Amino acid sequence: MKFFVDTAEIDAIAELNDLGMVDGVTTNPSLIMKSGRDIIEVTKEIAALVDGPVSAEVVATEFDGMLAEGRKLAALADNIAVKVPLTWDGLKTCRVLSGEGFMVNVTLCFSANQALVAAKAGATFISPFIGRLDDISLDGMQLIEDIRTIYDNYDFGTEILAASIRSANHVQDCALVGADVITAPPAVIKGLAKHPLTDKGLDAFMADWAKTGQKIL
Ligand code: G3P
Repeated sequence: MKFFVDTAEIDAIAELNDLGMVDGVTTNPSLIMKSGRDIIEVTKEIAALVDGPVSAEVVATEFDGMLAEGRKLAALADNIAVKVPLTWDGLKTCRVLSGEGFMVNVTLCFSANQALVAAKAGATFISPFIGRLDDISLDGMQLIEDIRTIYDNYDFGTEILAASIRSANHVQDCALVGADVITAPPAVIKGLAKHPLTDKGLDAFMADWAKTGQKIL
């Protein structure tokens, strides 16, 4: 399973990238706003830092504007994936951009049927939002499972990029149901290494080691 980092914070991306944890990056208008950076500048910087796909989202809501913005974002670097919302205009934009050879990430997916039409439109990635479904008492993970089944039934090549991931459990469940990619905030990715028994065990080893009076170096 690939790990994308869901942030536009360069330092956080660089730290995880140095550890080999970054197969790509996803951004959205809210994350650009949080970073306080210019979208063009920060997107170029991220794309130069990481080898994998970097999603940059259009903000126009009708086809002509989305297409123009998508082409501009795609021209920033070879590893840009243009992110478009799962609307009819977004799907039209996806179709054209993928036909031109660009990677397209179709975002704001909340149903299996939406994932189906995105795959038909040539999406490179589909981004189902787990956390936001859970927020309204629906089952985000069931959606990932359903899309996996549908894509496998018909051999769609679109990758399932599980988004709106809020916890380590989300990551583990995505791996179990076969999401191709997860995108998560840096804190969630760092949290995957944590376990209270690891901390407790390490404290006990250190306490015993101190009693030996020995040193390794
Ligand atoms: O990139 C989209 C995304 O992952 C949103 O997450 O937590 O704002 O629902 P969240």
